[in-house]
Amino acid sequence: MARVYNFSAGPSCLPEEVLQACAAEMMDYNGTGQSVMEMSHRSKAYEPIIQDAEAMVRKLMNVPDNYKVLFVQGGGSTQFAMVAENLGIHTGKAAYIETGVWAKKAAAEAKKLGVEVDIIASSKDKNYSYIPKVEKIEGDYDYAYICFNNTIMGTHYEYIPDTGNIPLVADISSCVLSEPLDVSKFGLLFAGAQKNLAPAGVTLVIIREDLIPEVENCRAGTPTMLAYKTHADNDSMYNTPPCYTIYVLGKVLHWIEANGGAEGMLKRNKEKADYLYNYLDNNEGNFYHATTEIGSRSLMNVPFLTKYSTGATDEASLAKEKEINDKFVKEAAAAGLVNLKGHRLVGGMRASIYNAMTLDGVKALVDFMKKFAKENA
Ligand SMILES: Cc1ncc(COP(=O)(O)O)c(C=O)c1O
Repeated sequence: MARVYNFSAGPSCLPEEVLQACAAEMMDYNGTGQSVMEMSHRSKAYEPIIQDAEAMVRKLMNVPDNYKVLFVQGGGSTQFAMVAENLGIHTGKAAYIETGVWAKKAAAEAKKLGVEVDIIASSKDKNYSYIPKVEKIEGDYDYAYICFNNTIMGTHYEYIPDTGNIPLVADISSCVLSEPLDVSKFGLLFAGAQKNLAPAGVTLVIIREDLIPEVENCRAGTPTMLAYKTHADNDSMYNTPPCYTIYVLGKVLHWIEANGGAEGMLKRNKEKADYLYNYLDNNEGNFYHATTEIGSRSLMNVPFLTKYSTGATDEASLAKEKEINDKFVKEAAAAGLVNLKGHRLVGGMRASIYNAMTLDGVKALVDFMKKFAKENA
């Protein structure tokens, strides 16, 4: 079967060059007669793999020397707890900006662990279709928390809130290395790898060294594995790391470098997103529309609705809406464009167009959308 264009929100498509390179080394990595999947993480062959992955993160993200780069497990969701357990330890208070599901889950987890959470801004009033403008965050907070790209809602910060001396924590799971980012503006960044970096299984954490507490100074009851110090002191090798995922991550980082680094990714991503949003904003008969406000739109996740999503809640309208959405997703899949079903909180469709998605893929999607609109007008 020919390869499809995969618009999944995560895990997501990976660059074909990376998949081919992994396949070529599957049976014999670098003359070792083994796959990287089979190797001890303490072996001479594996050590350079994880070291190179870290060096590439530092290079591509321009990570200052006073930051640790960690590879941990448990996904973005475990970071919701780790952030609170490791950073919420002085005043025990934290500020969260609520921009959708992932920010809400992070705040709920902090609360569960006993941190006093202030929701200082929210875009709930318009179903999280925009990013609230918060110029300055002040107060006796241990940290301030934002979700920089909201995978489900399709929104993205176009600014970095000024938090003064309060460490700013950002979940960059769905936009990591999609654009240049000034790491020094943040106390902690984290990203589950399964969208822009690698297959699922590893989470990248970049943390300013002075924010890493001793294990015993984390919030009471913090398990050893959930203390950043444990991983920082052991070069992310306290226990067995997700070896193969880190190996693929290294290959993806080299692919990013070969394609212009973070600047190159931004150019590529803007081109793709502009092509899609331009069609959504200007399509004949307004058959489709984007759900997000201009000024808050994600380059990575693009939710959209058809004219049959009217907001009406009577049975006939809901049935028609569902029929059209299901038809779109089914016919798109038959045309080789897969994983376009929208999240139930937004409805309609969602195209996730991470770094590895090509402009050709986005053009194929828009061509399909034009045809579908004509046939279902
Ligand atoms: C922005 C964001 N944060 C956190 C998560 C949760 O990540 P995980 O499934 O790795 O726990 C997701 C998952 O899609 C996400 O999109």
